[in-house]
Amino acid sequence: MQFDIFSLFPAMFEGPLSESILKRAQEAGLLTIALHDIRAYTTDKHHVCDDTPYGGGGGMVLKPEPIFRAVEAVLGADADCPIILLTPQGRLFTQEVAAELAQHERLALVCGRYEGVDERVRQHLATDELSIGDYVLTGGELAAMVIVDAVARQVPRVLGALWAAEDDSHATGLLEGPHYTRPAVFRGWPVPEVLLSGDHARIERWRREEVLRRTWQRRPELLHTTALTEEDLAFLSALEEE
Ligand code: ADE
Repeated sequence: MQFDIFSLFPAMFEGPLSESILKRAQEAGLLTIALHDIRAYTTDKHHVCDDTPYGGGGGMVLKPEPIFRAVEAVLGADADCPIILLTPQGRLFTQEVAAELAQHERLALVCGRYEGVDERVRQHLATDELSIGDYVLTGGELAAMVIVDAVARQVPRVLGALWAAEDDSHATGLLEGPHYTRPAVFRGWPVPEVLLSGDHARIERWRREEVLRRTWQRRPELLHTTALTEEDLAFLSALEEE
């Protein structure tokens, strides 16, 4: 899968995208992450990318020309991959959106900055707009990193054979339960006895109950949008009674 990221600050991406799993996935040829400096696509002597807003008011607005030029030069004029503008006004990025985006061979991410981006970028270049949450960042770069990370780990083989993305919090519609590793007792705090029992059916049942318990305690609304078994429902009503 290929990501093309358009930004005024491509150096911001160097650390997060070149460590650990994303680094390994790029080395293995599973991912290509290409960074494109919007400023390199200006045509004026001073490489200006922003200007004051028409109609007055504070802040600066990103000019349309360098962004159109950058995206068209990299993707070609009739690219058919999604061109996603990162903006707090976009639709909310969720695990479901990550899974949907992972179906594409290529994604272009355009990072906004300053007060905003000239409206014609939204209207005539972007095919989608995403926000990573209801807060305002100084630019779209951190949002793009979040999206690359969450989408990339959905790409087959990126996580490797050791663990899969299917059981993640949110992938099942519920939160993940607790995990433990050695030692069996740490500072007097023991691992739950059931996990040491070797009884796989009991362990599976306990794990399912912990998933339900955690979701019920922290994000009860998720229980209304997930398919639950009779056994799940019985456990949840027992919890309510407690
Ligand atoms: N740019 C600024 N804030 C943002 C957000 N919350 N999501 C995506 N892009 C942004």
